[in-house]
Amino acid sequence: MRILSIVGARPQFVKLAPIAAEMTAAGHDHIIVHTGQHYDANMSDVFFADLRIPTPDVHLGVGSGSHGVQTGTMLAALDGVIAEHRPDWVLVYGDTNSTVAGALAAVKLHVPLAHLEAGLRSFNRRMPEEHNRVLTDHAADLCLAPTEVAMTHLAHEGLADRSVLVGDVMTDVCLRVARATAGLRPPLPAGVDAEGAYLVSTIHRAENTDDPRRLAAIISGLAGLPLPVVIMAHPRLVARVGEFGLSLDTGSLHSTTPMSYPDMIASIAGAAGVVTDSGGLQKEAFLVRTPCTTVRTETEWTETVDLGWNVLATDLSALPALVTRSRPAETAATPYGDGHAATRVVEVLLGRPA
Ligand code: UD1
Repeated sequence: MRILSIVGARPQFVKLAPIAAEMTAAGHDHIIVHTGQHYDANMSDVFFADLRIPTPDVHLGVGSGSHGVQTGTMLAALDGVIAEHRPDWVLVYGDTNSTVAGALAAVKLHVPLAHLEAGLRSFNRRMPEEHNRVLTDHAADLCLAPTEVAMTHLAHEGLADRSVLVGDVMTDVCLRVARATAGLRPPLPAGVDAEGAYLVSTIHRAENTDDPRRLAAIISGLAGLPLPVVIMAHPRLVARVGEFGLSLDTGSLHSTTPMSYPDMIASIAGAAGVVTDSGGLQKEAFLVRTPCTTVRTETEWTETVDLGWNVLATDLSALPALVTRSRPAETAATPYGDGHAATRVVEVLLGRPA
């Protein structure tokens, strides 16, 4: 069997890691295509190295741009790649512009399409990712869902007969890396004691970074928190902070560049709390049992909220109370699977010719 995986952005490299390992272990032909959506070393190469992902077979090098330019450039370049490799499946991951470009390219060439992390919904049509998810799920021949909630969304949209619950492949990686880094001191910026109480924050979504007033309010909220806040700054955040004349090293804030995956997991495992707008980090915080506060009006990962490990900070003035809330009740629930989702993905791909 030949599978062609299309990835391009940081969270997709994490999801690719266990799939690539399973494909190799099962002796299948796995072609990796990197669109180049993320290209800085600490947004891309470091994940391939740390998570031992094979070097991509094809690198499209599309880089940044408006949604239309970025997605269109990928789409144009993917035609030839898919036609050349003629895979049994094209596998796309998550909800980025690389996902929807890969999906469109595959279905137009009549190559079976599988979508990993299918069925997530925020129901917020202002989010570019929401359109990427919905379009990709409806184009796909096979929707590989991470959770029961995702399966329910797919069923409501008439996609039940092409959907399979496989679990969340990010759990596979997160649990493995958390075990490997247990007890290691994370490389926190000067002034933050890894043995003391600190918070970890990431803010990168356009709805939080691109409006100067919104971004200033978030930074001022974080800067006023009663614990040191390590903010791992995504390039989009750094760019907007510069444009708007703001600072990421003010009050409680201590900025650092985006961390490698093992360092990030070690940092959140040792933290008193996480404050983020990232989807992956909400789940990873839950998996290592660090309380999370999400700077958004909704979340796709509703299980983290239902179990008490995540709260939505819809009102920024509530941030200090939210990050210092008491820990929720311990739970043995495994809404994101048992850490073997990638094995099931490969089994399902083998058994379900489109
Ligand atoms: C993308 C995904 C988002 C995902 C996030 C993970 C879309 C629509 N969004 O958002 O769902 O949560 O990745 O990080 O696909 N930049 C660099 N270097 C890089 C990459 C980006 O400097 O290696 C800067 C550029 O200024 C670029 C900006 O970051 O314009 C945004 O990058 P882009 O890939 O468009 O979106 P993300 O915000 O990273």
